[in-house]
Amino acid sequence: MSEQTALLPSTSDANSYDGGANNHTTEPLPAFNITVRSVTWGLLTALTGIGLVVFLFFQDSLPDNIKMLPWIGGEPKDPMTAALGILEKAPIIDGHIDLPILIRYGGYANNVSGVDLNSKMPAHVDIPRLRKGRVGGFFWSVYVGCAGSEVEGEYFLQASWRVRDTLEQIDVAKLLIEKYPDTFHFARNAGDVRSAIANGKIAGLLGVEGAHQLGNSISVLRQYQALGVSYVTLTHTCHNAFADSCGMTPGKEPLHNGLSALGFSLIDEMNRLGVLVDLSHTSDATAIQALNYSKAPVIWSHSSARAVHNVPRNVPDDVLRLIGAGVGQTDAVVMVNFASYFVAPEGLATVETVANHVEHIASIAGKEHVGIGSDFDGIEAVPAGLEDVSKYPALIAELYSRGWKKYELAGLTGGNLLRIFEGAEKISREMKVAGVQPIYDLYDKRTDIPH
Ligand SMILES: *[C@@H]1O[C@H](CO)[C@@H](O)[C@H](O)[C@H]1NC(C)=O
Ligand SMILES: *[C@@H]1O[C@H](CO)[C@@H](O)[C@H](O)[C@H]1NC(C)=O
Ligand SMILES: [Zn+2]
Repeated sequence: MSEQTALLPSTSDANSYDGGANNHTTEPLPAFNITVRSVTWGLLTALTGIGLVVFLFFQDSLPDNIKMLPWIGGEPKDPMTAALGILEKAPIIDGHIDLPILIRYGGYANNVSGVDLNSKMPAHVDIPRLRKGRVGGFFWSVYVGCAGSEVEGEYFLQASWRVRDTLEQIDVAKLLIEKYPDTFHFARNAGDVRSAIANGKIAGLLGVEGAHQLGNSISVLRQYQALGVSYVTLTHTCHNAFADSCGMTPGKEPLHNGLSALGFSLIDEMNRLGVLVDLSHTSDATAIQALNYSKAPVIWSHSSARAVHNVPRNVPDDVLRLIGAGVGQTDAVVMVNFASYFVAPEGLATVETVANHVEHIASIAGKEHVGIGSDFDGIEAVPAGLEDVSKYPALIAELYSRGWKKYELAGLTGGNLLRIFEGAEKISREMKVAGVQPIYDLYDKRTDIPH
């Protein structure tokens, strides 16, 4: 309150101003002067007080064009009203949506003409539901599966079609984004995301879900980046030439004990290019080493908390504790996965249990290190209350009712991810200015190029 009252002239200031003016004019009767002054200041003070009360406590009931500072002011009692108000200004940016693989294998055979995103799609994502869920952007996963060493060979050398298939998925994602120019806006960086949202569009970003999709080659990474890929997950559920995966069930035997030498080089090149390092699906050793090594902030595009539900795909507390600490003090955001089998024992996943994951990650790493990475269209079982992309407001309402503040929720919905993104872009610019050269390391197991 002291700042507000300081905006009003104090009584002594007013007296001296009046006194000064009166020296050059006809003297009014002193008693009359004092009465006018006190009535005037009394009225002004009362009006200011009423104004402050309205501003601070009833702001949310004012029409939008009268609200001045969106993050100060009244807290609506109804959590859903509050959630929708927050999402209007800070819409959801989801770290992982698997729409492209549905278009590949879900009966469309990658024929974008046959896809109508304005009608009800078979799984979790279409335009009406994205709009209802207040989505401002998402990463389109251009995933293709990994087979691991059983099919790809001991050194993963028999996998050349993975790059072709990834290009096909990039093609599908881009063609769908282009097909709906009134809805989607292709985005390669945080600035693109911000301008898409400012124009009422949904930013479409690309994420490659596993370094097996690089065909063992760092030059493929450069070309994916040129096509607009914003993150690469270091592994899917198989190990690859760059890093170890956590698999899907406990006890997966490590291959490199984390990152391979080529994996460290891959991170260097991702940092230089501004491609986000994604640690979902990686083994704990991979995650710890990558978090320690990366110069740029990192993400978990779709992972929840292992302490809440104990599966390898979730992030353990000892890794969460390393966020913002360690050699590089690496910033990170863990974007919570909604898949029922990552969230709770069978049949028990709900919007409340997903909120438990968000709160647990926040309690260890801080609220500015949590985001949302639903995995919609890539999962079969979904939590009660979070059945598809129209339901994000229910999660925001749940956390609001648990005491999360508006600005904290605006970080969760997308602000935290944008901070990480901008941090990685800054590192990329700095490395380029410093003249850091592209990485030319070849995978040492390759025999097709003499080296
Ligand atoms: C692609 O889908 C459209 C619309 O369903 C259909 O007319 C066309 O024949 C399909 N093309 C191919 C090659 O299947
Ligand atoms: C973290 O990085 C430092 C410096 O490069 C290194 O000495 C240390 O072994 C790393 N720790 C882990 C757990 O990777
Ligand atoms: Zn995944």
